[in-house]
Amino acid sequence: MFSGWSMPVDNPTDNPSAKPVDGIDNKAVYKRPDVVDRFDAERRIGEDDFVYRWELDYFLRQARCLLGTGASGSVIDVGAGTGKLALAFARQGWRVTAFDQSDAMLARLSAKAEAEGLAVVCRNGDVRDLDGERHDVAVSSRVLMHVPDPAVMIARMAALASCGIVLDAPRRFSPNSLLVAVRALTGGEVYRCVDDRFLVETLAAQGLDTIDVTRMFVAPISLHVKLRSLAVSRVAEAALRPFAGVASTAFVTAARRKG
Ligand SMILES: C[S@@+](CC[C@H](N)C(=O)[O-])C[C@H]1O[C@@H](n2cnc3c(N)ncnc32)[C@H](O)[C@@H]1O
Repeated sequence: MFSGWSMPVDNPTDNPSAKPVDGIDNKAVYKRPDVVDRFDAERRIGEDDFVYRWELDYFLRQARCLLGTGASGSVIDVGAGTGKLALAFARQGWRVTAFDQSDAMLARLSAKAEAEGLAVVCRNGDVRDLDGERHDVAVSSRVLMHVPDPAVMIARMAALASCGIVLDAPRRFSPNSLLVAVRALTGGEVYRCVDDRFLVETLAAQGLDTIDVTRMFVAPISLHVKLRSLAVSRVAEAALRPFAGVASTAFVTAARRKG
């Protein structure tokens, strides 16, 4: 199942000014107005979409589980983008901070929050420098894959999360790795794929015990988004469950270790 370490995990915060381990740092892409303009439509964010709905359901359910009370608490969405998670949590009555390095992304998120009458605190910054007020839960979707040092990102999130963390990452042992290899040759955005074990061990080093790893989307996410059919996607993913070992994404929940 595990194919080895993707990144060193010892003392991840020891050298915060370290250079990207593998050269991946996609910050600049998400500052571009054209990328922000087409971001939601390309991912069908806010629509009746299988991937969008599945992700919201996982993050909301797992965050409630970390809180333990079934109620809503405070959450920080790291790399919040246009607010896929931040707005969903705010709709459920959570106190939400959206953190992102892109002014353009945060401006879009704020406009959407205002249109819905939702209160979301926006903070601009690099995850490497993330600190400040603690929250019950820290969440992050599709960000770890873009930052120079995922172990530092996990350490920063852990330092702010009283109850725990929910995050996702593309899996190394999946067709994602092949896609990235092709993009590296042909051009296009290259992102990091990690081993499930790297996530579990890095979280453990920060005092967080992994309580759930869900491997999801055996059919390509882009195919689901293009299909535009909840029913077909549901049936396809159910039929493909025996192949979850090569699913594209690991969704991980880790709880603060007691004592
Ligand atoms: C693919 S988007 C995901 C946005 C949102 N979480 C979602 O799932 O729709 C990646 C986001 O991470 C942000 N990001 C990337 N690197 C970052 C960094 N080093 N610090 C803070 N935010 C970062 C980008 O600005 C962008 O908004």
